[in-house]
Amino acid sequence: MIPLFDRLAAPLLRMLDPEQAHALALRALKLAPLPRPAPDDEKLGVAAFGLRFPNPVGLAAGFDKNAEVVDALFRLGFGFVEAGGVTPQPQPGNPRPRLFRLDADQAVINRLGLNSDGVEAVAARLAARHAARGRSGIVGINIGANKDTVDRAADYVACIAALAAHVDFLTVNVSSPNTPGLRNLQQAAALDDLLARVIDARERAAESGARTPLLLKIAPDLTLGDLDDVVGVARRHRIDGMIVGNTTVSRPKLRETAKATEQGGLSGRPLFALSTRMLAETYVRAEGAFPLIGAGGIDSGAAAFAKIKAGASLVQLYSGLVFRGVGLVGAIKRDLLDLLRVGRLDALADAVGHDAATVTAEPWPA
Ligand SMILES: Cc1cc2nc3c(=O)[nH]c(=O)nc-3n(C[C@H](O)[C@H](O)[C@H](O)COP(=O)(O)O)c2cc1C
Repeated sequence: MIPLFDRLAAPLLRMLDPEQAHALALRALKLAPLPRPAPDDEKLGVAAFGLRFPNPVGLAAGFDKNAEVVDALFRLGFGFVEAGGVTPQPQPGNPRPRLFRLDADQAVINRLGLNSDGVEAVAARLAARHAARGRSGIVGINIGANKDTVDRAADYVACIAALAAHVDFLTVNVSSPNTPGLRNLQQAAALDDLLARVIDARERAAESGARTPLLLKIAPDLTLGDLDDVVGVARRHRIDGMIVGNTTVSRPKLRETAKATEQGGLSGRPLFALSTRMLAETYVRAEGAFPLIGAGGIDSGAAAFAKIKAGASLVQLYSGLVFRGVGLVGAIKRDLLDLLRVGRLDALADAVGHDAATVTAEPWPA
């Protein structure tokens, strides 16, 4: 069914404008009668943030911004799904065109600008799903601030209050490059204030139930000095984990030189080296204080395994789906099992961070 889906959809989607293609993919996922995938091999299981993930391959934020197709995404075989980013008030995002596919580079540039149905609509959707299905599948939500907001931290607090009860983890996104000023929240003093307030909001939301794990998602464009501060502040506030990372505003060597000048965040294959380096740099600074999710340019089992060896307990992908289709999820899981066998490892946890020191000693990726 999934190979068929890819064979039929891929040529069609590639002909369309990227944003239309995305809308059509969401429609197809809503309608397609996808069968339940086979249970994952136990060797792929990962324990992190107090949760038990059936496999380490997650969907990154931005694909299902409004939590419309979460269950269909689990049918593709994902071990967890991060919906969002969502903002407190609905907002349209930037004018179109704002999404660009760089086919020759297997990359995407987006400047969507956190277009969102708003937290009320998204919370209602997640609550309805929760009521209908109970807690099936690990679902996270990525939260951000409205473009015109004055007190950004208050926006994250509002999202946590509305969403914590309906998800398994919350991701504080301070790294989207398309909301002016958002990434300044990664600066030490601002981050210190933000994390104090979001953790307080999470504790208040937990009064009636369990604490929802809170993750911080950072940009791959931080300097190593900034990263020292970010990890230090995150450790002081006992954050549950970090995602490394978001799209980059840098432009590593690209073939599609005309599109490369479009403003926005770059994702996909050309992001792999930079984001893997930042992941390893984060791993050596975190010293095991919390687990990491690696994202950026994963489009194969080898790429996913490289992230794990650089320090990721779990991985996420988005752009790889655009170029490799939804069969990529199953292919990565099969390859990971092979790589475990070849390396004579019993579990993925045995490989986490194995190469972090080597990666951080390499020349900085060009
Ligand atoms: C179209 C698009 C929209 C995105 N929206 C969000 C978002 O709302 N919040 C967020 O934290 N990351 C967002 N991301 C970043 C992804 O979650 C991911 O971190 C990044 O794309 C790197 O992974 P990839 O190379 O596998 O795509 C978006 C990415 C793309 C391509």
